[in-house]
Amino acid sequence: MQKKYLMTPGPTPVPAEVLLAQARPMIHHRTPDFSAMLMECVEGLKYIFQTANDVLILACSGTGAMESSFANCFCAGDEVIVARNGKFGDRMVSLAKTYGLVVVDLPYEWTEVVKPADIASALKEHPSARGVVVVQSETSSGVLNDVEAIGRIVAEYPECVFIVDSITGIGAVPCRTDEWKLDVVMTGSQKGLMLPPGLAAVTVSEKAWRARERSTLPKFYFDWKRYKSNIEKQTTPFTPAVSLVVGLVEALRMMREEGLENIISRHSRLAEATRRGCEALGMKLFAPPEGRGSAVTPVWVPEGVDGKKIVSIMKNKYGVTIAGGQDDYAGRIFRVGHLGYFGEFDIITTLAALEMTLAELGYPFERGSGIKAAEAVFMGE
Ligand SMILES: Cc1ncc(COP(=O)(O)O)c(C=O)c1O
Repeated sequence: MQKKYLMTPGPTPVPAEVLLAQARPMIHHRTPDFSAMLMECVEGLKYIFQTANDVLILACSGTGAMESSFANCFCAGDEVIVARNGKFGDRMVSLAKTYGLVVVDLPYEWTEVVKPADIASALKEHPSARGVVVVQSETSSGVLNDVEAIGRIVAEYPECVFIVDSITGIGAVPCRTDEWKLDVVMTGSQKGLMLPPGLAAVTVSEKAWRARERSTLPKFYFDWKRYKSNIEKQTTPFTPAVSLVVGLVEALRMMREEGLENIISRHSRLAEATRRGCEALGMKLFAPPEGRGSAVTPVWVPEGVDGKKIVSIMKNKYGVTIAGGQDDYAGRIFRVGHLGYFGEFDIITTLAALEMTLAELGYPFERGSGIKAAEAVFMGE
């Protein structure tokens, strides 16, 4: 037997309470019992997203929520500013092009943070742009973009909606939807919500509803209006992911019990311990100091070490699954996820497995130094 540890930024570990809730016998979705659960989820998500806006629950992965925001906010030929510094920002560009939008592309290196001033300049140059799209927490790079500052800028343009992919942000870093004037914010269930994959949630502001009214892009399954009119009747337009909603009730109860502030500070402690642990082992962090999120820690593979072997030895020999790099960074970085149902000893375990793996690969370092640095963070030193 080998005990398994899932240290990836999605899917993430699912607590036993949620798994047990999902194991209950199936119920029908057109029943008062299900309606009560659905409405509890909507209320709980409003708390997690820090919003009084509408929250729509979709049966799809995060990309479906991304797609729904394009289909509902725009018309073909609309100009949309996409600032991107990773794989998921790149996906936003592909999506926008798929829907016939005119992309004002603001590309950055994956190791850079999106500069709010660049968004301000792009809006000045393209004042009729109908949308600004930013990934708050770039899972591919670990970079955290300042959507609060960008929200202030976009708010000056009454016809331009601010779409934020917070798929690995929600539940890991602050995301104050209303205070920061974020029109559309989305997450996926397999991330900070501590559920299996298959559910997504999207928040829709008044401004975004106005965009929906003017939008002419084709939509059926993802038509937000159907979800709104159905949620007003405490139901969903199509068969929902019943078991995931049942699990979400439990996950949201756990999150409320811990409290959002405590959840965020737990994540920042776990991220800090991971960072300090890896640095103590002589490795370099990928994300820049001014923009490091708490969902995932990407680390440069040390010179002379085979990055793919780090990931495979950790998984096969020690049962610890971490993520490799994506696209151009495959084999060049590895990523440790700490998003959702994670505690101190998940980090200690991962650093221990990392140390044993690095030792096997002949990388020189002082054994125990990574774990010691992480312990110091947890002990408040
Ligand atoms: C930041 C971000 N955006 C979008 C996605 C896409 O979500 P999904 O794979 O659930 O479709 C992910 C998934 O990892 C993500 O991390």
